[in-house]
Amino acid sequence: MKLTILVGTMSSTANSVAQAVQLACSDLVGDIEVTLMDDLDIGIFEAGKVANTLYLICSSTYGSGDVPDNARTLFESLSAQPQYLGHVRYGVMALGDSCYPQTFCFGGKQFDTALQDLGGQRLGEIWCHDASSGIPPETDGAAWGHLWLSSALQTVSVSSAAA
Ligand SMILES: Cc1cc2nc3c(=O)[nH]c(=O)nc-3n(C[C@H](O)[C@H](O)[C@H](O)COP(=O)(O)O)c2cc1C
Repeated sequence: MKLTILVGTMSSTANSVAQAVQLACSDLVGDIEVTLMDDLDIGIFEAGKVANTLYLICSSTYGSGDVPDNARTLFESLSAQPQYLGHVRYGVMALGDSCYPQTFCFGGKQFDTALQDLGGQRLGEIWCHDASSGIPPETDGAAWGHLWLSSALQTVSVSSAAA
Protein backbone atom coordinates (compact mmCIF):
# COMPACT_ATOMS: atom_id res chain seq x y z
CA MET A 1 0.00 0.00 0.00
CA LYS A 2 1.19 3.48 -0.86
CA LEU A 3 0.11 6.86 0.56
CA THR A 4 0.26 9.90 -1.71
CA ILE A 5 -0.23 13.24 0.05
CA LEU A 6 -1.24 15.99 -2.39
CA VAL A 7 -0.43 19.46 -1.06
CA GLY A 8 -2.23 22.70 -1.91
CA THR A 9 -0.52 25.61 -0.21
CA MET A 10 0.29 29.28 -0.50
CA SER A 11 2.72 29.85 2.37
CA SER A 12 3.89 26.26 3.07
CA THR A 13 1.91 25.45 6.24
CA ALA A 14 0.07 22.61 4.49
CA ASN A 15 3.39 21.32 3.19
CA SER A 16 4.82 21.23 6.74
CA VAL A 17 1.72 19.38 7.90
CA ALA A 18 2.09 16.85 5.08
CA GLN A 19 5.74 16.26 5.98
CA ALA A 20 4.79 15.78 9.64
CA VAL A 21 2.20 13.19 8.60
CA GLN A 22 4.79 11.47 6.42
CA LEU A 23 7.20 11.14 9.36
CA ALA A 24 4.51 10.10 11.83
CA CYS A 25 3.14 7.38 9.57
CA SER A 26 6.39 5.70 8.55
CA ASP A 27 5.60 2.79 10.91
CA LEU A 28 2.35 2.09 9.04
CA VAL A 29 3.29 2.36 5.36
CA GLY A 30 6.72 2.13 3.76
CA ASP A 31 5.93 4.21 0.71
CA ILE A 32 4.65 7.72 1.53
CA GLU A 33 5.02 10.45 -1.07
CA VAL A 34 4.42 14.16 -0.44
CA THR A 35 3.68 15.96 -3.70
CA LEU A 36 2.90 19.62 -4.26
CA MET A 37 -0.19 19.94 -6.46
CA ASP A 38 1.65 22.28 -8.86
CA ASP A 39 0.99 21.24 -12.46
CA LEU A 40 -0.95 18.09 -11.50
CA ASP A 41 -4.30 17.27 -13.04
CA ILE A 42 -6.92 14.55 -12.67
CA GLY A 43 -4.44 12.08 -14.20
CA ILE A 44 -2.73 11.77 -10.80
CA PHE A 45 -5.66 9.62 -9.70
CA GLU A 46 -5.05 7.11 -12.50
CA ALA A 47 -2.13 5.82 -10.42
CA GLY A 48 -4.59 4.34 -7.94
CA LYS A 49 -5.79 1.95 -10.63
CA VAL A 50 -2.44 0.25 -11.03
CA ALA A 51 -0.99 0.65 -7.54
CA ASN A 52 -2.71 0.16 -4.22
CA THR A 53 -2.75 3.85 -3.34
CA LEU A 54 -4.49 5.89 -0.68
CA TYR A 55 -4.62 9.65 -1.20
CA LEU A 56 -4.58 12.44 1.34
CA ILE A 57 -5.61 15.89 0.15
CA CYS A 58 -3.86 18.50 2.33
CA SER A 59 -5.00 21.94 1.27
CA SER A 60 -5.27 25.42 2.70
CA THR A 61 -7.85 28.04 1.67
CA TYR A 62 -7.39 31.44 0.02
CA GLY A 63 -9.33 34.28 -1.53
CA SER A 64 -13.00 33.80 -0.68
CA GLY A 65 -12.92 30.10 0.11
CA ASP A 66 -10.81 29.19 -2.92
CA VAL A 67 -8.15 26.54 -3.30
CA PRO A 68 -4.56 27.89 -3.27
CA ASP A 69 -3.03 28.97 -6.58
CA ASN A 70 -0.86 25.84 -6.85
CA ALA A 71 -3.97 23.64 -6.50
CA ARG A 72 -6.06 25.39 -9.15
CA THR A 73 -5.06 23.29 -12.16
CA LEU A 74 -5.79 20.03 -10.36
CA PHE A 75 -9.03 21.31 -8.85
CA GLU A 76 -10.33 22.72 -12.14
CA SER A 77 -9.42 19.53 -14.03
CA LEU A 78 -11.85 17.60 -11.83
CA SER A 79 -14.71 19.44 -13.53
CA ALA A 80 -13.08 20.22 -16.91
CA GLN A 81 -11.91 16.63 -17.59
CA PRO A 82 -14.31 14.58 -15.47
CA GLN A 83 -13.62 10.86 -15.09
CA TYR A 84 -15.16 8.24 -12.85
CA LEU A 85 -12.96 7.99 -9.74
CA GLY A 86 -14.71 5.13 -7.94
CA HIS A 87 -11.32 3.46 -7.32
CA VAL A 88 -10.00 6.52 -5.43
CA ARG A 89 -9.97 6.27 -1.64
CA TYR A 90 -8.91 9.46 0.05
CA GLY A 91 -8.84 11.58 3.19
CA VAL A 92 -8.91 15.36 3.57
CA MET A 93 -6.82 17.69 5.70
CA ALA A 94 -8.24 21.19 5.35
CA LEU A 95 -6.43 24.26 6.65
CA GLY A 96 -8.18 27.55 7.20
CA ASP A 97 -8.87 30.32 9.65
CA SER A 98 -12.07 30.86 11.60
CA CYS A 99 -11.72 34.58 11.01
CA TYR A 100 -13.28 33.65 7.64
CA PRO A 101 -16.42 32.01 9.10
CA GLN A 102 -18.36 31.92 5.81
CA THR A 103 -15.62 30.00 4.00
CA PHE A 104 -13.84 28.15 6.81
CA CYS A 105 -11.57 25.45 5.35
CA PHE A 106 -13.37 25.58 2.01
CA GLY A 107 -10.20 24.71 0.07
CA GLY A 108 -10.13 21.15 1.41
CA LYS A 109 -13.93 20.94 1.53
CA GLN A 110 -14.21 21.91 -2.14
CA PHE A 111 -11.80 19.12 -3.09
CA ASP A 112 -13.93 16.70 -1.08
CA THR A 113 -17.12 17.71 -2.88
CA ALA A 114 -15.48 17.50 -6.31
CA LEU A 115 -13.97 14.05 -5.64
CA GLN A 116 -17.25 12.71 -4.24
CA ASP A 117 -19.07 14.01 -7.31
CA LEU A 118 -16.78 11.79 -9.42
CA GLY A 119 -17.40 8.70 -7.27
CA GLY A 120 -14.33 9.00 -5.01
CA GLN A 121 -14.66 7.38 -1.59
CA ARG A 122 -13.65 9.53 1.36
CA LEU A 123 -12.37 7.54 4.32
CA GLY A 124 -12.95 9.23 7.70
CA GLU A 125 -14.05 12.74 8.54
CA ILE A 126 -12.38 15.89 7.24
CA TRP A 127 -9.66 17.24 9.55
CA CYS A 128 -9.99 21.02 9.82
CA HIS A 129 -7.26 23.20 11.24
CA ASP A 130 -8.02 26.72 12.45
CA ALA A 131 -5.02 29.05 12.17
CA SER A 132 -6.58 31.23 14.91
CA SER A 133 -6.77 28.33 17.38
CA GLY A 134 -3.15 28.46 18.50
CA ILE A 135 -2.93 24.67 18.00
CA PRO A 136 0.23 23.77 16.05
CA PRO A 137 -0.99 22.28 12.77
CA GLU A 138 1.98 19.92 12.40
CA THR A 139 1.52 18.26 15.83
CA ASP A 140 -2.24 17.98 15.62
CA GLY A 141 -2.12 16.99 11.95
CA ALA A 142 0.48 14.26 12.51
CA ALA A 143 -1.61 12.74 15.32
CA TRP A 144 -4.77 12.87 13.22
CA GLY A 145 -2.95 11.51 10.17
CA HIS A 146 -1.68 8.48 12.09
CA LEU A 147 -5.16 7.64 13.36
CA TRP A 148 -6.66 8.24 9.93
CA LEU A 149 -4.16 6.01 8.15
CA SER A 150 -4.50 3.18 10.73
CA SER A 151 -8.24 3.21 10.24
CA ALA A 152 -8.04 3.59 6.44
CA LEU A 153 -5.68 0.60 6.17
CA GLN A 154 -8.13 -1.51 8.18
CA THR A 155 -11.02 -0.44 5.96
CA VAL A 156 -9.06 -1.25 2.83
CA SER A 157 -7.94 -4.67 4.07
CA VAL A 158 -11.50 -5.60 5.15
CA SER A 159 -12.92 -4.55 1.78
CA SER A 160 -10.24 -6.40 -0.21
CA ALA A 161 -10.76 -9.55 1.93
CA ALA A 162 -14.49 -9.36 1.19
CA ALA A 163 -13.93 -8.92 -2.57
C1 LIG B 1 -5.47 36.32 1.83
C2 LIG B 1 -5.94 35.14 2.64
C3 LIG B 1 -7.20 34.61 2.43
C4 LIG B 1 -7.66 33.52 3.20
N1 LIG B 1 -8.94 33.06 3.00
C5 LIG B 1 -9.39 32.05 3.79
C6 LIG B 1 -10.74 31.60 3.66
O1 LIG B 1 -11.53 32.06 2.82
N2 LIG B 1 -11.17 30.59 4.49
C7 LIG B 1 -10.35 30.03 5.45
O2 LIG B 1 -10.80 29.14 6.16
N3 LIG B 1 -9.06 30.45 5.58
C8 LIG B 1 -8.56 31.43 4.78
N4 LIG B 1 -7.25 31.86 4.93
C9 LIG B 1 -6.40 31.24 5.98
C10 LIG B 1 -5.38 30.20 5.45
O3 LIG B 1 -6.02 29.13 4.75
C11 LIG B 1 -4.62 29.61 6.66
O4 LIG B 1 -3.85 30.62 7.24
C12 LIG B 1 -3.73 28.44 6.32
O5 LIG B 1 -3.18 27.87 7.49
C13 LIG B 1 -2.59 28.83 5.36
O6 LIG B 1 -1.93 27.64 4.97
P1 LIG B 1 -0.77 27.64 3.86
O7 LIG B 1 0.42 28.32 4.48
O8 LIG B 1 -0.48 26.18 3.61
O9 LIG B 1 -1.26 28.31 2.63
C14 LIG B 1 -6.80 32.94 4.18
C15 LIG B 1 -5.51 33.47 4.37
C16 LIG B 1 -5.08 34.56 3.62
C17 LIG B 1 -3.68 35.11 3.88
